[in-house]
Formats: sequence, structure tokens, C-alpha cells
Amino acid sequence: MKRLVVATRNKGKVIEINALLTGLVDKVSGAVDFEDFPETLEDGLTFEENALKKARTALKFTGFPSLADDSGLVVDALNGRPGVFSARYAGEFADDVSNNSLLLEEMLNVSPDKRTASFVSVLAFVTPDGVEKIFKGTLSGNILFEARGEGGFGYDPLFLVEEFGRSMAELTLSEKNTVSHRAMAFKKFREYLEGKSEFEE
Ligand code: IMP
Repeated sequence: MKRLVVATRNKGKVIEINALLTGLVDKVSGAVDFEDFPETLEDGLTFEENALKKARTALKFTGFPSLADDSGLVVDALNGRPGVFSARYAGEFADDVSNNSLLLEEMLNVSPDKRTASFVSVLAFVTPDGVEKIFKGTLSGNILFEARGEGGFGYDPLFLVEEFGRSMAELTLSEKNTVSHRAMAFKKFREYLEGKSEFEE
């Protein structure tokens, strides 16, 4: 594919996605590469709705095939919260510290066997020809009783990855990229593009 627009203002994300799609896309652009790129209100009740809404906005505005992602943490004992509200769990001005404190507080009396959770990443890909595809990656784990590790971001310090016996924040970036929800979603997207000759041009 010659060009793909990623519906995000985060330059770091665009660089990461560029690397994940090496050999399949000639040029990956982000929202900052276009003047007056519109904001999308992320008011969907599912990751799929939000990702699709962002991707459709980018397609409508740029005319290029567009990709958007939405991700978050789904905690079973909290009936799926924080879910689509992961970034704003502790309120409008929430940050990683306040979100993690609230999660620990809400999970205080939840026993070890009931602390299951998953990270979810959903990618929506839309094209001018009317293609609309969703790719989903999940990673199951457990919510810890206290933060561990300095790496990663978001809820990583509170998320125990069984396979490694370490928190997500204790994994190296390359370890995280072998198991993460985002890596799984991108693997599916790559496989899809590789199998579609119409996107080779
Ligand atoms: P977004 O999809 O970039 O809007 O991410 C939503 C929120 O989900 C982030 O602000 C984080 O709190 C959380 N989140 C998503 N992916 C990860 C991850 O890989 N590690 C930790 N937290 C994550």
C-alpha cells in the first residue's frame, strides 16, 4: 500500500506503527501531517465503535486508507471497567498515577483468584473502496496488589503477565511486543494486508 493514515495525534504512535508495518506500507502519516485534522469524540461503548469512528473520520477527511486503534484494560471483578474509559478512569484530568491508585483501591478486597483482567486492542481499517475491517488482540493476566516495574505506561505496573511471571512494566519492550494485545492486533492486520493483492500497489 502506498499510503496509510493513522488517526492519532501521537507522533510516537505513528513511528511505532510505521515500524510494525515495514514492507507493507510505503508511507504512514498521522493526524499532525494534515492541517485542521478533525477531532473525534470517543463516545462509543465498545473499543470497536471508537476505533471505527476514528478511522472513518480520517478517511472522510483525507481520502486515504485509514487506520485507528482503541485500547484499554478490562477487569473481570469490575464488570469490565475501566474498559473504554481506561484513559479517563480517575476522571477528566486523570493520569497513569491516579488511574492506577483508583484501580488498586477498587480491587483492595478482591481475592487473588478473582483478579483476572485483560488488555484489549482493537484496530479499525477503512478504505475509499468501502472496506471496513476490525482486528482485535487481547492479553489475559491478573491485577497485582501493588505496582511493580518501571517500564511501559498506563496500567502496566499493575498487570501480571503469567507467561513471564512479571508485571508488564517489568518486561523489556521486545518482550512486551511478543505478547501484547497491540502486537497481536497488528499481527492480524499485517497478515490481512499480506493476503490481499489489491493493497500491494
Ligand atoms: P488509547 O487506546 O491510546 O486511548 O489507550 C487508552 C488507555 O488504555 C491508556 O491511556 C492506558 O491507560 C490503557 N492502555 C492501553 N494500552 C495499554 C498498555 O499497553 N499498557 C498499559 N495501559 C494501556
